[in-house]
Amino acid sequence: MNRRRLVVGNWKMHGSRPANAALLDGILQARPVGCEVAVCVPFPYLSETAATLVGSDVRWGAQDCSAHEQGAYTGEVSAVMLAELGCRYAIVGHSERRAMHAESDQLVADKAKAALGRGVTPIVCVGETLAQREAGQTEAVVKRQLSAVIHTLAHCAGEMVVAYEPVWAIGTGLSASPEQAQAVHALLRAQLRAAAPHADVMKILYGGSVKPDNALALFSQPDIDGGLIGGASLKAADFVAICRAAAQ
Ligand code: PGA
Repeated sequence: MNRRRLVVGNWKMHGSRPANAALLDGILQARPVGCEVAVCVPFPYLSETAATLVGSDVRWGAQDCSAHEQGAYTGEVSAVMLAELGCRYAIVGHSERRAMHAESDQLVADKAKAALGRGVTPIVCVGETLAQREAGQTEAVVKRQLSAVIHTLAHCAGEMVVAYEPVWAIGTGLSASPEQAQAVHALLRAQLRAAAPHADVMKILYGGSVKPDNALALFSQPDIDGGLIGGASLKAADFVAICRAAAQ
């Protein structure tokens, strides 16, 4: 199955106006082609990012999205607002939010639904911790996380992007091997197939210490359709090199 690969930069809580301008300029100068490219930036930078990227092939998005439409939710940002800023994507359920902000599987699913309802594609992150992997629970954990989203999105489940991000590989320099990642991606694909008629064209990204030197081997796996890139998305040269690997 030929799926066009997608590479998404997750800037996390990094950046400044001058640093962002230089980074986006570096990406635009290199004009990565042959794959889809997006950057998910901190909320305060969305507007400027949109102004810089509009008219280019690079899309932009947020790193979270409220499950609510509007109301007394101090500090939250709604999907309506993201859509107004032209966001193509919103990451939901990143392991840092699941762990540090106590986000449950159901809350993540509700966020994904809120995003989709406004035409913003949710990038739903799933992944096991090292303790869970060592206890042989990887399959059960990722299936449970994905199943909450599948049930909540129901007939729209095929519209999401899934990102498999083993928690032990995030920011550690210790990427999953291509075979380890593929094994989980194949499980996720099978779960999606049972739920969505178009599962074969859905994108399942891998995230966790993707770098220019391991990207191609990861992206060459049959069920890995691109990457969600943290640290390496903050350097234009590295991010562009990863996009080039995805375009091969
Ligand atoms: P990393 O982060 O590439 O720095 O490991 C990936 C992520 O958390 O999305």
